[in-house]
Amino acid sequence: MIMTVREVQDSILKIKKEKKICILAHAYQSQDIWEVADYIGDSFGLSQMASQAEADTILMCGVRFMAETVKILSPEKKVILANPSAGCPMAEQMDFDIMEQLKSEMSDYTVAAYINTTAELKQLCDVCVTSSSAVKIIRNIDNDKILFIPDCNLGDWIAKQVPEKHIELVRGGCPTHLRINQRDIDKARKLYPEALMLVHPECHPSVVAQADFVGSTTEIMDYAAKGKNSSYIIGTENSIVEHLQFSCPDKKFIPLSKDCVCHNMKATTLIDVYNCVCGTGGEEILMSDTLIENSRKCIDEMLRLGK
Ligand code: 13P
Ligand code: SF4
Repeated sequence: MIMTVREVQDSILKIKKEKKICILAHAYQSQDIWEVADYIGDSFGLSQMASQAEADTILMCGVRFMAETVKILSPEKKVILANPSAGCPMAEQMDFDIMEQLKSEMSDYTVAAYINTTAELKQLCDVCVTSSSAVKIIRNIDNDKILFIPDCNLGDWIAKQVPEKHIELVRGGCPTHLRINQRDIDKARKLYPEALMLVHPECHPSVVAQADFVGSTTEIMDYAAKGKNSSYIIGTENSIVEHLQFSCPDKKFIPLSKDCVCHNMKATTLIDVYNCVCGTGGEEILMSDTLIENSRKCIDEMLRLGK
């Protein structure tokens, strides 16, 4: 039987209501998935939502560390990752043993981790941050010495805004955002001189330095939706360009780079979501009580300091 996109969406909406499934979608998911989600947000918003959601089953349309975060915050719930192959290369960049060694050598430092880390690695961290909460949280940490992992680009951006702290960085980053380069900026500025350039702090510092606004995915969307300018160059995953075109059809949105596509975020399809609500797809996230307990401390600390 052939189904249209709208028929698949209608079936998902019906089944999720019957089965009391809450669908969470990261902002980088495609528009057809957005339309069936109960909540759409950036990494910080999704974590807050995960700790409050009332449904017994939560379906995460995003990448693995996001589903793990939901499970850590709501261990009693059944948490499903819509597409098991959707990982985040940055979250898997740091080795547990190297991190353990670093932590013992720098015992007077507070270890702050971008939430894009595995649950295993979170066990070694004191506090998590997201791109929208990072500056506030780092400022609120009761220690001047911070070891920030794994994204040195986000870390550099934080360090420039919190100069009163000594922030040590490790070499890691998002392969998707690092594809944006100077040629992309020169080309976009030349073709669209009137447009404002909005970028994510996961971009290289040389890109961030030339932006008119720097923020998380939802901060970029809010800025563009509320701003008076009629055109915006978007320097983050290109699904944000698509979403902005739907929400503000009278404005013009230009991707800073055609290559800024996260293939992991794009791995999840509407059919994956359909199969998950039907009970035939996805992967249930299972974690030991010890892993949940140990990795939860730094997420709770993030929610406390980020309030
Ligand atoms: P935010 O959701 O914090 O904007 O981060 C973007 C991202 O790369 C998520 O993986
Ligand atoms: Fe990971 Fe970058 Fe993709 Fe986000 S955009 S999931 S940080 S690879």
